[in-house]
Amino acid sequence: MEAIRGRRSVRAFCLDPVPRPLIEQVLEAGALAPSAKNMQNWRFVVLQGTSKARLVQVLRDQLDALPADRPKGSAPNSARIMDEAPVLIVVFNTSPTGREIAASRGNLHPHSAEIQGVAAAIQSMLLAAFDAGLGSLWICDVFYAAQQIECHLEPVVGQAELVAAISPGYPASEPRAAAKRGWREATCWPEE
Ligand SMILES: Cc1cc2nc3c(=O)[nH]c(=O)nc-3n(C[C@H](O)[C@H](O)[C@H](O)COP(=O)(O)O)c2cc1C
Repeated sequence: MEAIRGRRSVRAFCLDPVPRPLIEQVLEAGALAPSAKNMQNWRFVVLQGTSKARLVQVLRDQLDALPADRPKGSAPNSARIMDEAPVLIVVFNTSPTGREIAASRGNLHPHSAEIQGVAAAIQSMLLAAFDAGLGSLWICDVFYAAQQIECHLEPVVGQAELVAAISPGYPASEPRAAAKRGWREATCWPEE
């Protein structure tokens, strides 16, 4: 509960490198998550230095190529965060459906259970990062360049569906807590 209550989305990081054992601890937490049929259909790609810079450039190129009237939302800011964070963990879904989606982007498949398993791994990694004294951000703005990132990392991860990126690092400042509605508002609990 301490990690669950204390975790915040961190969007500004110190330059200090993250020791490899801490990154491994975060990855270990991800790989221990529950998944549908224990498929463990996640793959984590750890990027630092120039390999991270190349990935961020893939996203920026895609944002630059968008028509002027197409809203970019928080994506330029997310690209800046990915640039500044010392580590980026890109998370993929490697299930057969995920591979199919990567092969034919645009087709939608009912594969919610597979993604829920990958999301469980992501949340476990965010909590493990907090436990290790790190901040992190769950980034879906990478979808602006989903196909391009899948192609860019295919030599490393094979054909797989991009799910998100995570940026663990030492927080540069204490982020404000986001307002949460709380469990009572989120819960229906009919009397017996
Ligand atoms: C699926 C998902 C995708 C997200 N994508 C982004 C993103 O691309 N960029 C960003 O700045 N924050 C992103 N966030 C962070 C949310 O904005 C953040 O979790 C929310 O505002 C609540 O704040 P908290 O994490 O500090 O509790 C994402 C969060 C989730 C769960």
